[in-house]
Amino acid sequence: MFSSTSLLYAVFTTAFFASAWAGKTTSVSDWGDNPSKLPEMLVYTPDKIAEKPAIIVALHPCGGTGRMYMGMTPLPSLADKLGFVILYPTSNAQQGMNCWDANTAKSLTHNGGGDSQGIAGMAVWALKTYNGDASKVFLVGDSSGAMESNVMAATYPELFAGAASYSGVPAACWAGSPISTPMSSDLSCPLGEKASTYTQKQWGDLARGCYPGYNGTRPKMMIVHGTADTAVVISLLKAQLDQWSDVLGVTFSKNVSDDPIKNWKKVVYGDGTKLVGYEVQGGGHMPAFQGEETLKFFGLM
Ligand SMILES: *[C@@H]1O[C@H](CO)[C@@H](O)[C@H](O)[C@H]1NC(C)=O
Ligand SMILES: *[C@@H]1O[C@H](CO)[C@@H](O)[C@H](O)[C@H]1NC(C)=O
Repeated sequence: MFSSTSLLYAVFTTAFFASAWAGKTTSVSDWGDNPSKLPEMLVYTPDKIAEKPAIIVALHPCGGTGRMYMGMTPLPSLADKLGFVILYPTSNAQQGMNCWDANTAKSLTHNGGGDSQGIAGMAVWALKTYNGDASKVFLVGDSSGAMESNVMAATYPELFAGAASYSGVPAACWAGSPISTPMSSDLSCPLGEKASTYTQKQWGDLARGCYPGYNGTRPKMMIVHGTADTAVVISLLKAQLDQWSDVLGVTFSKNVSDDPIKNWKKVVYGDGTKLVGYEVQGGGHMPAFQGEETLKFFGLM
């Protein structure tokens, strides 16, 4: 079971987008705050950077690197059109499998000294370096990167305006596990045991607990998950929606079939501007990244 699960977490090599991008890719390792010694981020800058550009932090799955994740979404070509800057952090090998730390108290705490602090440091660096728009800093991620996007949204709500999670888990879902990889001895998070027992309020408390006392605005959240995902099971869609509906104070309003594409069911909370889910009917781990839909939700298109 471990090996097939590991494969499911790992990189897909079949659907890479063309790499004929007009912009520039730069490796940066001295962005500042980096307590868990993340090795690198790649920065993608389009030829024409917008005045006060939006910043998108894009987090790779287990087994991946920033460079690999550049080819997994259409974001670089959309950046060429729209002028935003993309950061592609690479995780360190501490846990094995190049997964992000979504389990330790360090990473699950605002300025706690873990991966989340280093990633936040990259976003702060980019805001300064590119004169970015502090109200337009976003996260996207697949699998382990989606899990970490939830962690970032909970630990640095003052920094991020929104996040898109493709096949992730709620913030602090991995708390108590020794590592947050498919090889962990405790897979009660990704395999849905916690999802079957935690209440909406408990999920909300776990997110709020990542930054105790914070009372400012919270990031908007887009949650994508496939019904046939065996590595991170579909009940984690509801668990993430429970967490963020509790934190954001929005309630379920309606489902919309085949939106934005066939077999994607849009699950709308409130007026759909703060929280939406997408249940991909028959979809496996890491459904195809919907670039335009994601950017529309962020308000960048
Ligand atoms: C939110 O936090 C600020 C800064 O700590 C504090 O001044 C304010 O009273 C808090 N607001 C609420 C509603 O708790
Ligand atoms: C909306 O879709 C979700 C996810 O499939 C489902 O759990 C829920 O029952 C649906 N609600 C309604 C009112 O159809």
